[in-house]
Formats: sequence, structure tokens, C-alpha cells
Amino acid sequence: MIRFKHLSRFSILLCLFLFQQARAQMFRPSAATDQRVNDLLASMTLEEKVGQLTLYTTDWGSTGPTIREGYKNDIRSGACGNLFNSHTVAFVRDLQKIAVEETRLKIPLLFGFDVIHGYKTIFPIPLGEAATWDLAAIEKSSRVAAAEASAAGLNWTFAPMVDVCRDPRWGRIMEGSGEDTWLGSRIAEARVRGFQGKKIGDTDAVLACVKHFAGYGASLAGRDYNTVDMSERFFREYYLPPYEAAVRAGAATVMTSFNDYDGVPATGNHYLLTDILRKEWGFRGFVVTDYTSINEMVNHGVVANDKAAGELALNAGVDMDMQGAVFQRFLAQAVKEGQVKTADIDEAVRRVLRLKFELGLFENPYKFCDENRQKAVLLSAENRAAARDVSRKSIVLLKNDRNILPLKRTQKIAVIGPLGDNKSELIGNWNGAGNANDCVSVVEGLRAQTKSEVSFETGCEFMTPGKSGFGPALDLARRADVVVAVVGEQAMMSGEAASRADISLPAVQEELVLELLKTGKPVVVVLMNGRPLAIPRLAESTAAILETWWLGTETGNAIADVIFGDYNPSGKLPVTFPRSVGQVPVFYNEKSTGRPYDPNSKWTSKYIDLPNSPQWPFGFGLSYTTFQINEPKPDKGAFKIGENLQVMVNVTNTGKVAGEEVVQLYVRDLVGSVTRPVKELRGFQKVMLKPGESRNLTFTLTEKDFAFFRRDMTFGAEPGEFDIMIGGNSQDLKPVRVRMTE
Ligand code: NOJ
Repeated sequence: MIRFKHLSRFSILLCLFLFQQARAQMFRPSAATDQRVNDLLASMTLEEKVGQLTLYTTDWGSTGPTIREGYKNDIRSGACGNLFNSHTVAFVRDLQKIAVEETRLKIPLLFGFDVIHGYKTIFPIPLGEAATWDLAAIEKSSRVAAAEASAAGLNWTFAPMVDVCRDPRWGRIMEGSGEDTWLGSRIAEARVRGFQGKKIGDTDAVLACVKHFAGYGASLAGRDYNTVDMSERFFREYYLPPYEAAVRAGAATVMTSFNDYDGVPATGNHYLLTDILRKEWGFRGFVVTDYTSINEMVNHGVVANDKAAGELALNAGVDMDMQGAVFQRFLAQAVKEGQVKTADIDEAVRRVLRLKFELGLFENPYKFCDENRQKAVLLSAENRAAARDVSRKSIVLLKNDRNILPLKRTQKIAVIGPLGDNKSELIGNWNGAGNANDCVSVVEGLRAQTKSEVSFETGCEFMTPGKSGFGPALDLARRADVVVAVVGEQAMMSGEAASRADISLPAVQEELVLELLKTGKPVVVVLMNGRPLAIPRLAESTAAILETWWLGTETGNAIADVIFGDYNPSGKLPVTFPRSVGQVPVFYNEKSTGRPYDPNSKWTSKYIDLPNSPQWPFGFGLSYTTFQINEPKPDKGAFKIGENLQVMVNVTNTGKVAGEEVVQLYVRDLVGSVTRPVKELRGFQKVMLKPGESRNLTFTLTEKDFAFFRRDMTFGAEPGEFDIMIGGNSQDLKPVRVRMTE
């Protein structure tokens, strides 16, 4: 009996271990799949093969020029094997039917779509979700997105976007996880797990697509599609790890980026697509280009025409051409001329077909086309509840002087600002099949949670400078007990092709808030935006500021939960907020320089008109309670290279309400063979504590946490002294020094 008991415990542990291993594994097609792929490949013409390497948008929506019409005929002739921007069961079924009933080989289509932060139930923008510092919540968000997308006919999402970005001018900063490589890598893994679920082929899962490979977030001057250039050391250390993490977590596909890197466009970059992605990391899925990025290599100036661009792309390691029609027009000819090898085309086709087999599309091409499931899953009460949970976790409390927040339910509230009762902006950019009418506005959310009066005035517009709305807004403010000013960007002011040179609050919104402050009423500023904003005057003069990003369908409910204190804010910034756009790029893991910042010494690295410090640092966020985080205690002062180091820390809730703190651990290598950052995030734990409750936390650091690309470009740690720093944000940290020995 005892033996049986032990055996069952052992087998449960073994199963759990194997399950974790399976989850953590890279995508690997099975041997059976390989056999089926090869059999099919043997019967294909060159044109049919090229068709499998071709992806076209339908006429439903697009994010670039439509240079290929008549996609239905292309499917019919076998010239197009994959589609995007085609969703909902009825639409997908009709197109799939053409592929499996009217083509010679009956190969089913892949259906891709940008399901970035939700399909129908819209979750916070990815930058907002990154502010949760809650990997389980982020995985859940991607899980729900996949369940909804796959119920609407889709089998492939163009996500996660894992581009590290230190420049808030770049509009696409909203799609990623912010400025940090380590946090971004953990989030990338969580999203892949969420999208792909337990395994590829499950009916509620979709293929993930890691993008944009590589370095797109470093577009020069924050201008979209711009050049990327930096040392290989920097690139490998700060930009590549999140892509690698996503690939190692099992991502089935990778998308190239629009930018060049070191003079070679990513879409034609053999070093990136073959040497690093396939040879170093062992990636076995397929690589798709970004939208017409093969064609754009002509503009980049590395090839003279589309045909040469197609050859460069395929030979570099691209498998599928998104919307460029270059493979379709020129690949067969390139093979005949000997510019491209048949073996390379075959390998690309294998990569695509393997995933179609692994998805189970050959057994049932309509497996994602179940009307009943679509009806039951989309926007279900359960999905909305999940969105509300992630939304409130994404909110960051930036300021709360005199404990203005939370509000009492007896207070008369004046909601003022262009976003106060707005729905159309709440789903943000890249909003899938989200519907603005399904969103809860801030006014609606507040009204649902209080019996006191909640009144509303727009005050001003987003883009136009008119102040005629100020008068009615100020009158309303004077009649209320408290003002909630909901201001920010329009959703289309971030995302693709939406870089801004000025990252302040648009139009006259800041002036509106400053006028509201003059009424003497307490003003709570609720920000909605897709990037860090520079708002020094508001940061200085208002008492309470909530950063709410774009929260999606459940916006108003989540904000009301926080405003009335039913949810104690726990979000932390995943990106630095500058004082001025002139500080950009400003990020926490900078280098010391030879003349470290000293405000009292002229000849140090600084500005003469601003401090170096940002408005709000990476990792920052307040709570309605307070926490005391003690000095970190290592389990040993000295440890051997390769040995793990454990660091203990005690955290206490010193306030009056329960709350969560994100305890963050940073490492600094004091002397290296190359210069090292002043701190780097290497771990965090999010803990819920009751008032007065204390908890001891343990962090385990491995050799990798101290490693970097050394002078000779090998990756590893160097013995010497390190500071381990722990705290509630990247600025307020307590250090302890440890020594690593040979
Ligand atoms: C261009 C964007 O860069 C990419 O992220 C997106 O997936 C494709 N368009 C398809 O919409």
C-alpha cells in the first residue's frame, strides 16, 4: 500500500516534469509528419510548391498596399497556399473549401491574423499587459485570444511581438513588452505558451509567430521602418534574447522585420535567418516575411529588382512571402536559371507543410470552423472576466499625494476629457475583431459602481486646439467633489506607422487639466496612451495619476475597480517615462561612462537643462498600501563560478490595506572585460500581503544571470565582485556585494 502510494506520487511528479519539459520544448515535427510531408512533396509541381510559400491578404483588411488582387483565383490554381485577414467561420470555410475541393492536391490553407491583444474580447495592449509583471496573467490573456481566434476559423496569429524598445517615439512600442530584455524574454515565453496552448493541433490553439526578427525596436530615431545599426555585442545582449526565448518556448513561426541590420535588410539576412535562427538556435518552423518586405529590399538598395530580392530572401532563409507576390512571380524562373536551388525550395515547402500536418488540417480542414463554438466562445462572460482581471492588473499608479485615491462612493464625480465617455479608442491599435461598442467606457464603469452622481463633459478634442469646451468642463468640475480627467492619445497615434516626434499630451489636454486644477477640486488624471508620455507639468502639479494604457473591452470596469479601491493597483512600468523627449533614449540599464552623472560637477555625463533621471523609472508603480523591503541576504558572500547563489529578502506590508508588491532583483558586475550596465533585471516576484504581513522571498541566481558577451565574444560570467540589488523599482534598491571566484 505504502509502495503504491509512493509510486503514484512519483508518477505524478514524473508526469508533471515531463509535461513541463514538453511545454518548454522547441517546436519539433514528428517523424510520422516528416514522412507524410515527403510523400506529398514528391507529387508537387514547382508552381504548386511556390504556392505553399505564398501568403496573401484577403480583401477584408490590410496593413499596407494591396498589390495582389484576385486571391480566390490564386487559391484555385494552387498559386496561393496561405491567407491572412480572413476570419469568422463562414468566411474561412468558403475559402478553405476552394483549397480542398477545387485544387489538384487539396492542400488546406493556413489562416493568419494579427491577434495581438485579443480577438473579440480585447485585452490591454501588450505594453499595458507587460505592466502586470504577472506572467500567468499574460499567458492567460494569450490563451483566451487563441481560444477565440481559433473558434473564429483562424489557425495562426502574427504574435508575439517581442521587439525590445527604448524609444517611446516609436509607435510600435505599444505592441511589445517595453525596454527590458530579461522581462521581455519571460513575457515572450508566456505568450507563446498561451497562444499555442498544450500542443499545436489542439482545437483551441493557434500557431504563434515571433516578430519582428530582428531588432526592429531599435529603429533609428524612433521612426518606423528606419535603419538599425549597433555592435553585435549589444545586439546579441539586448535585442536578440526575447526572440530566442520565444523560439525555445516552441514558437512555430518567425516573421522577419522591415529594417536592415548592419547594412543587410532582415528579410535578406542569411546571418540572422540561417546562421543564428536555424543553426545556433535550432529553429524548425517556418519564416514568413513582413508585409512586402521582400519587395522593399529594392528600396533598401541592396538589389536592383524584385526578382533579385526574391532570390536574396529565399537564399537567406525566408520560407514564405507575405503579400509581395515576388515568390509567385519569380521563384520558378529563378530555379530554372540556377539562382535558387530546388532543394532549398523543397526545404521551405517542407517547413510549411509540416505545420499544416501538425495542425491536423489534412485530417479535418474545417477543424477551426465550428459555428457553435464560435458563438459560445467569443466575448463569453468568462473571457470578459479574464480581461477585466488582466486590465486592472495592468494599471500603474504613478502618483497619489494625500491619498486622494481611492475615491469614496459618496463623492460626486465629474468625469472630464475626450476619453471620459469614449468607446472607440479603448480597444487601442491592433484590435483584432474587437468592437468598440462592446467596450465599457470610464463613465459607464464608474456609474455601475456608485450611486453618487457621475457627470461628464468632453472639455476638448484630441487633435484640435479649440478651448470652447473648457467653460462647461470647469463649471461641471466646480459642482463636483472630485474630478476624474481622462486624457491621452488617440489609439491610432501609436502602432505601426505612428511614430511621434513630440510625446506630450496631444492638443490642449494638458492645459485643460491645469485649468481644472485651478478650481481647487481634487483631480485624478487617468492616462490612456500607447507609449510613455512626457508630461512634466502634470507630473508636478496633479496629486493623482493612473497610467491605464489602452485596456480594451473591460476598460471602464477595471478603472472603476481601481478608483474605488476594490482592486489595489499593482502594476509597474515596463518602460521608463522620460521628463522630456530630449532625454530619449533613456532607460534603466545604462552604462556608467567614464564620467558618471554628478549633478554638482559640470564635466560629467549629463544635460545642462535637465537631470539625467527620468520622470518615472522602469519598474515603478505605487499601491494604496506601503511596503518595506529589507536588505538582501545572500546565502554566501563568495561563491564559485558555475555555483548557484541564493538571495533572501524580507518584504512587509506596512500599510493599512492588502496589496501586491513586485519585488525586483538587479545585478551589477563591477569590473568586466567590457563595460557592464549599472544594473540589470534578473528576477522578480509578485507577492500579495495582508496589512502587517511579512514574507521571506528567495531568489536563485545561476551562472547565466551573471553572464554576458565577453571581450572575445564568448558568452559567460567573469569572476569578480557583483552587487545584487533588490527593491520595488529600478531606482530605489538596497544592495549587497558578493564575490564570484574561479
Ligand atoms: C505589417 C506589420 O509590421 C506586421 O506586424 C503584421 O503582422 C503584418 N503587417 C500583417 O498585418
